[in-house]
Parts: sequence; structure tokens; C-alpha cells
Amino acid sequence: MTTQLTIRRPDDWHVHLRDGAMLAGVVGHTARQFARAIVMPNLSPPVTTAEAARAYRERIVAAVPAGMNFTPLMTAYLTNNSDPADLVQGFREGVFTAAKLYPAGATTNSDSGVTDIMHIQGALEAMAEAGMPLCIHGEVTHASVDVFDREAVFIEQVLEPLLRRIPLLRVIFEHITTQEAVQFVEAAGDNVAATITPQHLHINRNAMFAGGIRPHAYCLPVAKREKHRLALRKAATGGNPKFFLGTDSAPHAREAKESACGCAGIYNSPFALESYLTVFEDEGAIGQFEDFASRFGPAFYGLPVNEETVTLERLEHEVPASIDVGAAELVPFHAGEVLHWKFIG
Ligand code: DOR
Ligand code: ZN
Repeated sequence: MTTQLTIRRPDDWHVHLRDGAMLAGVVGHTARQFARAIVMPNLSPPVTTAEAARAYRERIVAAVPAGMNFTPLMTAYLTNNSDPADLVQGFREGVFTAAKLYPAGATTNSDSGVTDIMHIQGALEAMAEAGMPLCIHGEVTHASVDVFDREAVFIEQVLEPLLRRIPLLRVIFEHITTQEAVQFVEAAGDNVAATITPQHLHINRNAMFAGGIRPHAYCLPVAKREKHRLALRKAATGGNPKFFLGTDSAPHAREAKESACGCAGIYNSPFALESYLTVFEDEGAIGQFEDFASRFGPAFYGLPVNEETVTLERLEHEVPASIDVGAAELVPFHAGEVLHWKFIG
């Protein structure tokens, strides 16, 4: 039985680090495990310009605890009025690694998001031309579409037509939750990839209603039926370079989750690697873990792999019921559960 695993240091290709006191409280959890992370721009107000991204990057770097080596990779929040020249210049100058499409109203701080993708056709063409990747929150938001169908409908109504219009656009279909998304990404060209979160590998939609309403199992896109979870596990562990790690760790204070209108988001960064590795072990695929966590992401983004390594050890430990990060009390993913792997460093 494997008792220790050493792999190249991974990166997180999708994370919410927030700002201010919350940023200071959470960034160490990501920086401890990951060398780099694609940082989501859905602050309030959102990070829409290269100037704002530069300033946000400086605040993140300043908040990283001493002795930790961590590089934030910034994203531009696309709006109906995004300036193609600012996006491309920001990308060329190394401020932006990618841009992020939030359909308006899809999730936390997405009110300034794009109301119709045709509004940003010019920006997307400019991005394709420059080789700038597009990260997509892939859900339609019409009230008439069932919340569990929003991703599958997005593929048909938005993503397929988009890639027909701009076939060379580099797309990361983020935090995929369905078999339809897995199949779509598998069949698409090499310019299309997807990230997968730990929660969508561990839980199906029952988790939100287990014995009562469970706000800490609620994130967007919501977890789906079991058959989708199984398709995601196969995709993540199957060695296909189009699928790689993106935690979507999204901290909200306990009281903002445990509320009559609880926020969407699962805080998984404190034990992210342990959570993913458990899945790879259960699937008999520990040998594929390094590729998923540390190689396929950089390959898709055209970045070098990390030279340092990290080690995980087989060691039972209980995940705390909550974590005080100063700014807030956060309930981590797997709270109260026993994990069988522990990140050593
Ligand atoms: O669950 C989520 N939380 N999904 C998102 O897309 C946004 C995130 C957040 O910012 O809290
Ligand atoms: Zn997210």
C-alpha cells in the first residue's frame, strides 16, 4: 500500500481569494498547497480592468504569509462593455492570464456579468487572436431552465455556437458538473479543457438535503445526480490532459451560509489535495494524480510545470468543524470527517 506520495507542486486553476480581511485569512490555505492559482475576479466591484487586476495582485502578494512561495494568476471579469484593447494589452503585459465569463446573475457577484454573449463577440475574437484563454462559468440563467439543467443547456445554447463562431478560442469550461460537459470537452478540439472541483467528485445532489437542508454542500453549479459524479470521477482520474484541478474554493462566513438565503460556495482549500487524492485512491488511480494536479493545467495554459515537490502521507486526521480565519468563521469541506491522507509540505 502506498504510504507516501511525492509529486510536483500543484497549481489551483480556479480559486476565490476575496479581498481585505477575508483574503488575509484564506490565502495561506491556498499558498500552502499550491504554487500558483487562477484567481477569480468576482470581487465587489469586480476586477474588470488591467489596472484593477494589477492592484488586486499586489494586495494578494502582500497577504501571502511570510515564507510561502505563491504566484497569483489574474483574470479579467468580462462585462457587456469590456474593452478588447485593455484585455489584450493586459494579457500581453502579463497582468491577465485569462478572462472570465460570468453570465449575468449566474452566481456570487455576477450582476455585472454578460447578459448576452453576442455583446462580447469583439472581445472574444480579440482574445482568440491573441491566444488569451477564456474561463467560463457555464450555466444559463433563465428562470425557465431548471437549476439542475443549466449547465447542459448552456452547452447547447451558448458554448457550441461560440466555438462554431470562434473555433480557435482557448476555453476552460470551469467546475464542470455533468456527464454532458465531460462528453462535450472530450469531443472538442485541443483548445478546450475543463477544471473539476473536489466537491463535485465527492458529493451528488443528495448531499444538499441529507436529513435537512445542508448549506455547506451548496455551491454553483450545484452538485448533480450520481451518474454525473461518476462521469466526473472517470474524467478526472482517466489521464485525459483536458481535465485538470481547479478547486473553486469559495469562502463565505458561516452565518452567510447558514441563512435564509445562504451564499453559494464551498471552502475546500485547507484540505484540497487530501480531498482530491482520496478520490484518485478510491478509483485505483494514484498514478494519475500528479498529471491531473500538476502537469495538465500548466500544459493547457502554456506555462512551465513547477520544479518543487510536495508530499502527502497516509495519516488519518479529522477535519475541523470550523476554521477561524480572523475575518470569519469558515466551515471547510469535509468538516468533521476523517481524511486518510495528510499534506506534509
Ligand atoms: O459556489 C460558487 N461560489 N460558485 C461560484 O461560481 C462563485 C462562488 C463564489 O464566489 O462564492
Ligand atoms: Zn468559482
